[in-house]
Amino acid sequence: MADSTVTATRSFEAEKRYLNLPVRGGAPMRRVTVSLGDEVRHTFTIELADGEPQWWAFLDLGSFSGESITVALEGEDSPALDTIHQSDEIVGAEATYREARRPQLRFSSRRGWLNDPNGLVFHDGEYHLFYQHNPYGAEWGNMHWGHAVSPDLVHWQELPIALYPDELGAMFSGSAVVDWNNTAGLQEGAEPPLIAIYTAAGQPFSQCIAVSNDRGRTLQKYSGNPVVPSTELGSRDPKVIWHAPTGKWVMALYLDWYEAEKYPGRPILEVLHEINSYAIYTSPDLKHWQKSSEFMIPDDAECPELFELPISGTSGDSRWIVFGAEGRYVIGAFDGETFTPESERHVLNNGDCFYAAQTFTDIPASDGRRILIPWGETKSPLFAEMPFGESMGLPIELTLHRTDDGLRIFANPVRELAALRTSTTRIAEQALRVGENPLASLAGELWEIEADIAVGDASRLVVDVRGVPVSYDVERREITCGDRTASLELIDGRIRLRVFVDRTAIDVFGNDGRLYMPMGVDLTGGEPTLSLRAEGGDAVIRTLEVHELASAWD
Ligand code: FRU
Repeated sequence: MADSTVTATRSFEAEKRYLNLPVRGGAPMRRVTVSLGDEVRHTFTIELADGEPQWWAFLDLGSFSGESITVALEGEDSPALDTIHQSDEIVGAEATYREARRPQLRFSSRRGWLNDPNGLVFHDGEYHLFYQHNPYGAEWGNMHWGHAVSPDLVHWQELPIALYPDELGAMFSGSAVVDWNNTAGLQEGAEPPLIAIYTAAGQPFSQCIAVSNDRGRTLQKYSGNPVVPSTELGSRDPKVIWHAPTGKWVMALYLDWYEAEKYPGRPILEVLHEINSYAIYTSPDLKHWQKSSEFMIPDDAECPELFELPISGTSGDSRWIVFGAEGRYVIGAFDGETFTPESERHVLNNGDCFYAAQTFTDIPASDGRRILIPWGETKSPLFAEMPFGESMGLPIELTLHRTDDGLRIFANPVRELAALRTSTTRIAEQALRVGENPLASLAGELWEIEADIAVGDASRLVVDVRGVPVSYDVERREITCGDRTASLELIDGRIRLRVFVDRTAIDVFGNDGRLYMPMGVDLTGGEPTLSLRAEGGDAVIRTLEVHELASAWD
């Protein structure tokens, strides 16, 4: 940074854990640099609060202990520079996770924005959730990798930032694996290392790796980065898996097509097909990669997934799946180098709160599940005035089934979520008459509802959570929540529904996972009521269980 643009600096001896920076959404975006002597260690943008801050962002001073650091502000001077201070606790820590619109069933960052889950990996008894993170604002920007761990996919502990931006660029999305056979030669000690593969979003983008030999607690960037040489494209979001039959690592990589502008006068689709959307690379050691093929996922982009799923009810029959950030998936075959599609593209979810989902690598074979976490992307300002922006979605188990329509993925909440149940109300088999509400006596904010209902003479069934209806149109065989509608068949005249209610989301699962509809909605304004009703005629409750849930942060 040129000195002429710096108008104000302040120096500190780093003696406490955190450097606190005042934030106010909507304040002018300022560039801050934090230096050690002449060396710029961090540079980021922040809506610095000149007056009363909305919340305090923090920079972890752990690596500076005892040293003198200089904070410099680019542009005009600001009184904010005088309020920046150190502390051993995050300012406002006592209220963290209890804020009005803090999701209670799913992960969000203590402070700042998050988007895509990155590096979902199970390692040494822990689930790791790395994620796209802006520590200094509740909006997208300054991409770092945040990090949290969980013993059970439900209770998460946020750890220090895993990857900071560097000279190769901001830290964009990627994945992580356990290098069981030390193929990269980066193991130190007796335990196999965790290796993260990420995009450095510089000019141009490139793919890099970082290794951890301490259970993911710290990641060291590999000195030979980047490992996939830059291309002219904004290629990104490497998803890496071990392909046992060929004994190689496989990377699915998104090939950014925004560069299609470089082909003026050509039809965009023609260009797209030519430059394609995703590539497959292979490697013996995670350090040397070779491109082997390309594949398309119609109507999807970014964040590829590639994994094998057994077909339920068969012994050993399986298919390979690819999907992009929207969760549009294609079923096919994969030989370690080329994905061969065998289906049309299908949709994994019908909600408005799902993007850039990733599945865990290295789940033990004794468990064998394919577990996914999406970014619970919201399009409305659900988290306005909160010291964080956005959250993950619920953890989901994916299974593959033969249906009358062909092979389809089913999505169900992981069984571990049952740990949050505090009390259960069971309603025995009974008629559900027009005008009745068997849930009228219940009040609370966090729920799981499991219902098996014979539609009988009803034309509509409605589960109403805190004033937001999830309704089933019997004639059209359609379920609607908010502005989303999806089909759900009757099975023997019945539908099965499972609904999770959080403060800012409703997740609807229909017919044992055939339908998956995660919806982002602010439920905090409504009364804490529940209702189940039949309209246009009576229905029959076959089974109904309503579980009140505890906060995952308790
Ligand atoms: C998807 C995405 C990725 C990119 C990341 C940046 O949401 O755009 O393609 O790596 O977010 O935060």
